[in-house]
Amino acid sequence: SVNVNDPSLIALVNKLQDVFTTVGVQNPIDLPQIVVVGSQSSGKSSVLENIVGRDFLPRGSGIVTRRPLVLQLINKPSPEKLQANGVTEDELKKTTDREANVDEWGEFLHIPGQKFFDFNKIRDEIVKETEAKAGRNVGISPAPINLRIYSPNVLTLTLVDLPGLTKVPVGDQPKDIERQIREMVLKQIQKPNAIILAVTAANVDLANSDGLKMAREVDQEGQRTIGVLTKVDLMDEGTDVVDILAGRIIPLRLGYVPVVNRGQRDIENRKKISAALEAEKNFFENHKAYRNKASYCGTPYLARKLNLILMMHIKQTLPEIKTRISTSLQKYTSELNQLGDSILGNPTNIVLNIITEFSQEYRTVLEGNNQELSSLEL
Ligand code: GDP
Ligand code: NA
Ligand code: MG
Repeated sequence: SVNVNDPSLIALVNKLQDVFTTVGVQNPIDLPQIVVVGSQSSGKSSVLENIVGRDFLPRGSGIVTRRPLVLQLINKPSPEKLQANGVTEDELKKTTDREANVDEWGEFLHIPGQKFFDFNKIRDEIVKETEAKAGRNVGISPAPINLRIYSPNVLTLTLVDLPGLTKVPVGDQPKDIERQIREMVLKQIQKPNAIILAVTAANVDLANSDGLKMAREVDQEGQRTIGVLTKVDLMDEGTDVVDILAGRIIPLRLGYVPVVNRGQRDIENRKKISAALEAEKNFFENHKAYRNKASYCGTPYLARKLNLILMMHIKQTLPEIKTRISTSLQKYTSELNQLGDSILGNPTNIVLNIITEFSQEYRTVLEGNNQELSSLEL
């Protein structure tokens, strides 16, 4: 059975996407992408790095993110976890190569097949690719960089990082830089199944949040916007975000999550993300305004929440997925029948086997009679 805290349902959908792509069906399930918006320096890249648990994004003052980054996180169980789940050492050796022994790596769509085990090299490649399309200076480009990160420490999610909303052109930036960025952001967030992660620094007035303002333009009712409040640690003594969390300021159906990322000095001192996550946990657990709701605060809660939202979406889409699978099965079965006996090793046959195996393996999920799944609530 599928545990909702386990990313296997989303992993299953990723597998399905791959199988369907193999047989030429594009996008069997239009999985939502989580799009990060907010003003420059509101903490967007910091939130993303904390979710991944690794340092890999370019850093610096000014406009650093200059092309959309489509970041696909893929949960890949560690060898230890596979063994804990009953996979024998022999099976492990047979089914895995070097990958199983190396915990985490990244892969870029524009360099297929090359695994980046060194996350500093991932950062270098992002910088290089940004400069290739958007120039060395402050220009921007709407052409996305696609990066996949495989890790036992992430929940399977797709996130899109975007240039920060800015008002004033700097250096030799085009005069219409604000409009260019707005258009780039709008293009991503107006897709009806985009989930908008509106990042706002907690030490500025929520009513002035550029991220929330843009989200509102495409999601008037606040149905698919999640508020992320960064820099909660920098708020004035005696002020807090409790009223915002309670939905008393600008209500959002999916609510708000407060987080504490590394400050500029932490980054200069090379504070590890693991230490930062520990500090974040301590902050919320020991703060008098948050300690009674600490389990709803911080990055790990945000990641789980995003994962749940994706699961909800998949659950709603399951009947359609089921129909598509049985249509594909019918199509390939009849093709196979026409081909007769000469099909051994035929690619179509291989695909048929994959789909058959797949639908058997996940029958309970596809038939929608999974208890945990049907009781899933946000
Ligand atoms: P982006 O431009 O929205 O991607 O913002 P960054 O993630 O690059 O963050 C901008 C600056 O704010 C950096 O110096 C971060 O260290 C700092 N920062 C981000 N989030 C927090 C936070 O929660 N607390 C503190 N103290 N600083 C933060
Ligand atoms: Na903002
Ligand atoms: Mg950024």
